[in-house]
Amino acid sequence: MTDTLAAFLDTLDADIRARADWGAVADYIPELARVDPAQFAISVALADGRVLSAGQSDTRFSIQSISKVFSLACVLARIGEGLWRRVGREPSGDRFDSILLLEQEQGRPRNPFINAGALVTTDELLAGRAPREALSEIIGFVRESAGDDDIHIDRAVAASEKATGYRNVALANYLKSYGNLVNAPDLVLGTYFHQCAIEMTTRQLALAGRGIAGLPGAPFLLSGVKRRRIAALMMTCGHYDGSGDFAFRTGLPGKSGVGGGILIAVPGRASVAIWSPGLNAWGNSKCGTEAAERLARFTGWSVFG
Ligand code: DON
Repeated sequence: MTDTLAAFLDTLDADIRARADWGAVADYIPELARVDPAQFAISVALADGRVLSAGQSDTRFSIQSISKVFSLACVLARIGEGLWRRVGREPSGDRFDSILLLEQEQGRPRNPFINAGALVTTDELLAGRAPREALSEIIGFVRESAGDDDIHIDRAVAASEKATGYRNVALANYLKSYGNLVNAPDLVLGTYFHQCAIEMTTRQLALAGRGIAGLPGAPFLLSGVKRRRIAALMMTCGHYDGSGDFAFRTGLPGKSGVGGGILIAVPGRASVAIWSPGLNAWGNSKCGTEAAERLARFTGWSVFG
């Protein structure tokens, strides 16, 4: 299986590269607009400890919203279930940065993966601490989970989003007006922009996802209940208004980032990281989604059997 999977990943890489249509990179964060869309990488961390990769699996990319999986894991691991008093767990059916439902639902975000919900999750992590400590907790969690200390924040990307992230500023202020931010909006936004600016290779990201996928031997294994909660949210909300399409095509829980990354948990079997920076209409990786669909078909991996 490992040999044929390795050969499949090489074929997948070659097929993706032969295509001309990569999608468009995100341009609302100027630093991300400079990235060449014609790039692809995939890494699969298996339950037996091996990691198989194809493409540019040593190139670092901005994980962006994939960081929301790690901040949620930190909150569930350290603080527990209190988060659900402040954030829901229903898909929103709207864009990741939408403010629409926030007014209708009195400042309680639908789920922790839309931007409003991620801001509340980060606020929860900040409770009573300096921003540096909350950020260290997220990056510490990622490094420990990956078993790799060479994972860092790209300060230029964080600064670029801070300079232009007006929608997030609006969301944070809106949350604060409803009393659903404890800390000052600026503090929460600064921490959030920095967690989104963590950069990793697909190899590092696949390794960092092992604890969420419940792989034996993962350095940081979350409890079964927490893994189930996180994976269920990835499946139903991880691709925003494109979540139904991703679930339909792959049958797997995945979380996208606007940098073109996708983290997929195949419970008990594998942790998969895919990267291709060109995006589809929902703001999720275009070729990354296609690669995920082909991987699911090839391996037969699906949470639905
Ligand atoms: O808050 C933002 O807009 C970005 N830092 C992250 C958004 C994102 O990755 C959406 N995912 N596809």
